[in-house]
Amino acid sequence: MAVNKLATGRDKAGEKATLQLSKDIKGEGIMSEEKKLTGEVFYPSEAVITRAHAKNWEEICEEAEEDLEGFWAKEANELHWFKKWDKVLDDSQKPFYKWFTGAKTNIVYNCLDRHTQTYRRNKLALIWEGENGEFRSFSYFALRRDTCRFASILKSLGVQKGDRVTIYMGRIPELVIAMLACARIGAIHSVVYGGFSVEALHERLEDSQSKVLVVADGSYQRGKIVHLKQIADEALQRAATVESVLVVKRTGEEVNMEAGRDMWYHELMNLPIAGTTCHIEVMDAEDPLFILYTSGTTGKPKAILHTHGGYMVGVYSTLKYVFDVHEEDRYWCSADPGWITGHSYIVYGPLLNGTTSFMYEGAPTHPFPNRWWQMIEKYGINLLYTAPTAIRGLMRYGEAWPNRYDLSSLRILGSVGEPINPEAWKWYYRVIGKERCPIMDTWWQTETGMFMITPVPTMPLKPGSGTRPFAGLKMDVVNEGGEPVGPNEEGYLVIKNPWPAMIRTIYKDPGRYVEQYWSRFPGMYMTGDSARKDEDGYFWVIGRVDDVIKVSGYRLGTAEIESALVSHPAVAEAAAIGLPHEVKGNAIYSYVMLKSGFEKSDQLAEELRQHVGHEMGPIAKPEKVEFVDSLPKTRSGKIMRRVLKAKALGQDPGNISTLEE
Ligand code: PRX
Repeated sequence: MAVNKLATGRDKAGEKATLQLSKDIKGEGIMSEEKKLTGEVFYPSEAVITRAHAKNWEEICEEAEEDLEGFWAKEANELHWFKKWDKVLDDSQKPFYKWFTGAKTNIVYNCLDRHTQTYRRNKLALIWEGENGEFRSFSYFALRRDTCRFASILKSLGVQKGDRVTIYMGRIPELVIAMLACARIGAIHSVVYGGFSVEALHERLEDSQSKVLVVADGSYQRGKIVHLKQIADEALQRAATVESVLVVKRTGEEVNMEAGRDMWYHELMNLPIAGTTCHIEVMDAEDPLFILYTSGTTGKPKAILHTHGGYMVGVYSTLKYVFDVHEEDRYWCSADPGWITGHSYIVYGPLLNGTTSFMYEGAPTHPFPNRWWQMIEKYGINLLYTAPTAIRGLMRYGEAWPNRYDLSSLRILGSVGEPINPEAWKWYYRVIGKERCPIMDTWWQTETGMFMITPVPTMPLKPGSGTRPFAGLKMDVVNEGGEPVGPNEEGYLVIKNPWPAMIRTIYKDPGRYVEQYWSRFPGMYMTGDSARKDEDGYFWVIGRVDDVIKVSGYRLGTAEIESALVSHPAVAEAAAIGLPHEVKGNAIYSYVMLKSGFEKSDQLAEELRQHVGHEMGPIAKPEKVEFVDSLPKTRSGKIMRRVLKAKALGQDPGNISTLEE
């Protein structure tokens, strides 16, 4: 059977499909033997396979399994090191794993300086389009120049290696420049998503003890202005450590500038101190690169810490194999740099690979649902990485919108953030990828730093499955006792061995790091997700098993939403749960007990929604606020959200023996 015939060949669900790639490209297919795969299977085309970095994926995986350190050392050797490592993996203080110990590097050297010394100097590093149609582009030379300028400014403001700098902006190039400038001088960046609001920003400024805040005057979202500086001013009233606020002019709206604290970015960038060369800090491989706050099971968001060495190798290598990045490619990750997807695969991964990355400021449907497809045609995007929620949202408008554009430049598509339903997968595959482009459904987390369960383009795909763990990774699905479950049984998704881009600790809270990830199943990293593994070893991630809600792929904690509700004077107690939503994946529903003296009303419900929006950000606004007289609790006072969820869905609440009343 010819491989190219397999490209569009697929079997009906439930039937056995035969995989015969190796017959035609012997030893080069990812499956070297004929193998039966169950379910609906989509095969890669010859065109994709022949040029793929992952042409010999099965071999690469076998080698990595036999020699984990050897595999990662080989990948690391493709990057520049001021000094090579003494040891690839140091596991002497588990679970505080160290990678490339003794090595000296700086991720920015590999993102910029390495390229400006070659023909890539004049290659475009970043192409940007604003929501209002504005266009900007940066060559590797220009991005390095502006990074150096801003790094010089930060230095002149007294920012030193190890200091924290918070960055709070929309999707604009200055966000990338600010991140790289921090990393260049060894400062730790803490990017706060521009969709977050006062309390979320305040909490992150306070916890990170940031010295500097880099903010934009405002940002554009669906034609409206989000007043970022105004939000920041409110947050700053409660944050004591910030000495300087650097303001990027994006919208040009009038903002309050506090004398002695606030300075305009564009004015600083024109000063003689903003030198176009700036010494690069030589970092230890294990020195912190950034912290990024994310929601966990309980309490406040935690600051996940990543480092210069291991993180760099992990994101470089995963992007190369999974998106099959080639010199001439244009790559677009539609995420926001304020989340891990943006850190790893808008900023660091593409630059490490020397590729041209495209960034778009606004919403996919603004002003019309043709916006994305128009930009793919206009810029000739080859690799597109987005989220199921965006696909589902665009699907609603029908095929006519994408069909008006030439999408033939696309080669590989990607998905991330939440499980992709097979219907959305197939629409993406058929309508956007024209049955030519394999879909890389990448499962990973803020904590993992890099893709973990992911196909490579040479692999047969099953809609809704992220296929298998990346090379060198041992992952499994286990029961309550930590024992592997059988095929197709649901259980806890765990990781059984270390990887270079892994979380090193929770900033300032190593105890919580151990407790949160490594204590439930000794020796295994607990992901917080449930999953099943089918008879072919393909993983199917089901969703979170903890109190995290994924809304449109954004990760939110019930605790944060509840504490935002409780901070309103009318609220005595509150509970938040996620319920299935057609486009967002999950939507937030909240249950509120009022303090005596307050009356239930639709108006108050709306006021509470707005209050959560003001404190946390619009994404955290509950879909619905329902007033209740009591909340289901355990005898120890924990809210049983599972019971609320079952009730809302009209399901059996299961075991309620611990219910107080
Ligand atoms: O539940 C999983 C879901 O997103 C969680 C991690 O969220 P965050 O740290 O914000 O990172 C998101 C982007 C990497 C996971 O625990 N998740 C992420 N990707 C997928 C996914 N669930 C299913 N399929 C995916 N491809």
